[in-house]
Amino acid sequence: MPVEPLLEVRDLQVQFTRRGQAVTAVDGVSFHVGAGETVALVGESGCGKSVTARSILRLIRPPGRVTGGRILFEGRDLLSLSEAEMRRIRGNAIAMVFQEPMTSLNPVYTVGQQIAEALRLHRGLKGRRALAEAVDLLRKVQIADPERRIHEYPHQLSGGMRQRVMIAMALACRPRLLIADEPTTALDVTVQAQILELIRQLQAEFGMAVLMITHDLGVVAEVAQRVVVMYAGKVVEEGTVAEIFRRPAHPYTAGLLQSVPRLGQGKGRLQPIPGTVPDPAALPGGCRFHPRCPLADERCRQEQPPLESWSETRRVACWWAGRTAGSGVA
Ligand SMILES: Nc1ncnc2c1ncn2[C@@H]1O[C@H](COP(=O)(O)OP(=O)(O)OP(=O)(O)O)[C@@H](O)[C@H]1O
Ligand SMILES: [Mg+2]
Repeated sequence: MPVEPLLEVRDLQVQFTRRGQAVTAVDGVSFHVGAGETVALVGESGCGKSVTARSILRLIRPPGRVTGGRILFEGRDLLSLSEAEMRRIRGNAIAMVFQEPMTSLNPVYTVGQQIAEALRLHRGLKGRRALAEAVDLLRKVQIADPERRIHEYPHQLSGGMRQRVMIAMALACRPRLLIADEPTTALDVTVQAQILELIRQLQAEFGMAVLMITHDLGVVAEVAQRVVVMYAGKVVEEGTVAEIFRRPAHPYTAGLLQSVPRLGQGKGRLQPIPGTVPDPAALPGGCRFHPRCPLADERCRQEQPPLESWSETRRVACWWAGRTAGSGVA
């Protein structure tokens, strides 16, 4: 019997109402994250990654609404919990860090006060004990001179340091799942690498699972064991990092791989995928990727390919998948 996953998203559907019309931004998304595992959710801007992530914590606000599916965390459906129960999960069992840490930190409190508040809320620590623990957490996220830094305000820190503070706050509650939504996108390349390394170390130390959301396959190779690729609100491919990088089966995944610099590959060979992700209000018929796909034929224009399992670890939604895998096409 396979062990029950820590998180299982089943057939998630999220809609927004725009000008009186329901628009489906996330359409039947399913994937899982095992305990202690790092799974990357990838795709270009507008594919539905953040909407999916926010749905897990029930952070979708009107005019957005989860309209279908289940989100099982340790076997419990988060979508059926009361708001009070959900608050206990948020920031306790599941923590989230966002792309722009400035918007999640409160500018009028010091870093120490904010971490201490998280510790009070989630672990009941108060006063000097909370402050001492805050210093400890800052040290864990490798902030130099934490005794001084806890008295500073967010605007006094660099972007990289603010993200470290956010990670410290996320760790304050010792989550079993950390959802990181593009945590390094706003940072420069060296700081990005440091933050990813930090997340990896902390994961090893705390044994938490990570759902890493990114449009950058370089990040995926650094941190994840498995990859879920989204396109226009759907999962189009899933596999282990080794499988995906060695043998992308969906032309979209292949395209993503060809548009990121990789070791040993000159910059001259980088090819961005032509075109852009469609808006969910104006999706093409058939396979949603067909207008941008070099392999598209009549069937792709007419019929939406189902997400099919190839193996325990591999799922692909492409009429051509069996033929393209490993052939270097696309
Ligand atoms: N509040 C909202 N109201 C209406 N539509 C929304 C809202 N939030 C997201 N959407 C739509 O849902 C789709 C998916 O958005 P989402 O933010 O999940 O993309 P993403 O994959 O996270 O992209 P990025 O890489 O830019 O963060 C987009 O088409 C977006 O316009
Ligand atoms: Mg996003």
